[in-house]
Amino acid sequence: MRIKENIASEFNEFSANYTNDMIACVPHYLDLISSFTKDLPHQFDPKRILDLGCGNGNATAEVLQKYPEAQYYLLDASEKMLELCQHRFIGSDMSYLTSYFQDYEFESDFFDMIIAGFSLHHCDSEEKKSLFKKIYKALKSGGIFGMSDLMIDKNEPEHRQLLQDWKQFVLKNFPDEDKWEWLMEHYDEFDKPDHYSSQIQWLKEAGFSTIHTVFQNDYWVHLRAIK
Ligand SMILES: C[S@@+](CC[C@H](N)C(=O)[O-])C[C@H]1O[C@@H](n2cnc3c(N)ncnc32)[C@H](O)[C@@H]1O
Repeated sequence: MRIKENIASEFNEFSANYTNDMIACVPHYLDLISSFTKDLPHQFDPKRILDLGCGNGNATAEVLQKYPEAQYYLLDASEKMLELCQHRFIGSDMSYLTSYFQDYEFESDFFDMIIAGFSLHHCDSEEKKSLFKKIYKALKSGGIFGMSDLMIDKNEPEHRQLLQDWKQFVLKNFPDEDKWEWLMEHYDEFDKPDHYSSQIQWLKEAGFSTIHTVFQNDYWVHLRAIK
């Protein structure tokens, strides 16, 4: 599999064997998906939930189990990913939005919960800052933003070690190196992770005062911010 010209066509192709590839290529993937519902406040009962970069719906599926009555908004630039969601969630209250994050017009005080699983590392630092502000405004008071992602700056000295550890993980599942080579081409072209302390700072600047680290193993992190 060779890389494509933009994120939408890249993920249209990636969609074919998406969940198995994520489990085999992303350390702690399933822990980071289950973190979306871990230790949520008992009284929290979201009515409207937005999944930013829903992919084939793994984060939504996790939240849907806990909140089956909520209304879901699934946004992704990749039509193929959204098609997978449409087949997966027949019978649930879902709106499908084909859009890039930057083109989506967030309504103020509209959502009770916004989730983003492994999608915001496709945005550079300025895009993340801008998105965090839009997410804050779009949430109702008491609303929750959860994000799971790789959180490290590519320029940090620790990044080299991360790549070594990550490669060992992928080679256990795909010993012939082809997958790792493709993954690194994708990583160089499309992935712009930032360190978690920077992202916590930007969440605070956006207005969030309560921020929890729900899961962390090295640079694989789930952050939860409450408005
Ligand atoms: C690695 S997948 C994550 C999918 C899913 N949330 C999960 O946790 O498995 C990233 C998804 O975000 C989407 N995406 C990335 N950047 C985007 C952007 N700027 N606007 C809209 N969707 C984007 C991709 O198309 C892809 O489906």
